[in-house]
Amino acid sequence: MAALNRPARAFLVARPAAGGRETLARRLREEGVETTASPWHPEGLSVTRGAPQLTSAFRRGEFVLLDPAAALVARLAAPSRPGPLADVCAAPGGKAILLADRSPDRRLVALERHLRRAAELADRLRTAVPRAAVVRADATAPCLPAGRFAAVLVDAPCSGTGTLRRRPERRHRVTPRDVSRCAEQAFRLLEASAALVAPGGAIVYAVCSLEPEEGPEVVERFLARRPGFAPEDPTPWLGPDAAPAIGTGPWPHLDTWPRLEELDGFFAVRLRRTGGAPRG
Ligand SMILES: C[S@@+](CC[C@H](N)C(=O)[O-])C[C@H]1O[C@@H](n2cnc3c(N)ncnc32)[C@H](O)[C@@H]1O
Repeated sequence: MAALNRPARAFLVARPAAGGRETLARRLREEGVETTASPWHPEGLSVTRGAPQLTSAFRRGEFVLLDPAAALVARLAAPSRPGPLADVCAAPGGKAILLADRSPDRRLVALERHLRRAAELADRLRTAVPRAAVVRADATAPCLPAGRFAAVLVDAPCSGTGTLRRRPERRHRVTPRDVSRCAEQAFRLLEASAALVAPGGAIVYAVCSLEPEEGPEVVERFLARRPGFAPEDPTPWLGPDAAPAIGTGPWPHLDTWPRLEELDGFFAVRLRRTGGAPRG
């Protein structure tokens, strides 16, 4: 828990236009921003000095600022079969951009329920990922074709207990009731989004929460109802450097807390569609 009292360092992921993280690091240094290569992400840089948001590389959209754990979630959602991608809880859009960068030939649909957030997401993706379609919609009743998507990311709204170092006020506000309410909503989002996945495709469920109720318990409930989905080992998506962030338990998953002090606390699992209809 002590890690949650320390301020988070800025972290960025170089986009393809940057020409690699070493080139980007050099250009940032010329503008007074010092970075070190991240052990977690092959395109990641930890910022040790300066404000990357004030650089010309930022204005050119050459990197995305987000937590390393969030960047790992985007990597986990890369598709392994042909077909379009969906990010059903997409605003503000950091993971959607990284997901699109990993699959430059794919169509990406980004859903967001809230009007203002959907508008901001549309603005951001218009320049960052012009091929993306932003749809304002409720992902518990998605207006998208069933069984068509190679990968679906459900980065569900949650209590946020894994990001308390960024939003310390939350530690006085989150109640057990909030956790239960978020868990129920997350289950409904996961359940509805599963219908979008093509045979052989995958759904990635993620929350920035440390609460088992919002993480593994949602997945256990989902798997009991959906025998046509099976957890996949995240290692091939995350790479060997991310091994310390892989948790075990009933199935391997991304688990960035509490031993990994540089990272926000995320729980994420990749579920492959191996079969058909839900039970009952
Ligand atoms: C954890 S945030 C997503 C962060 C985002 N994936 C990123 O990397 O920038 C969850 C988002 O889901 C949106 N949301 C909540 N309920 C939703 C629903 N039923 N359908 C679609 N979006 C929803 C929230 O407004 C919020 O923007």
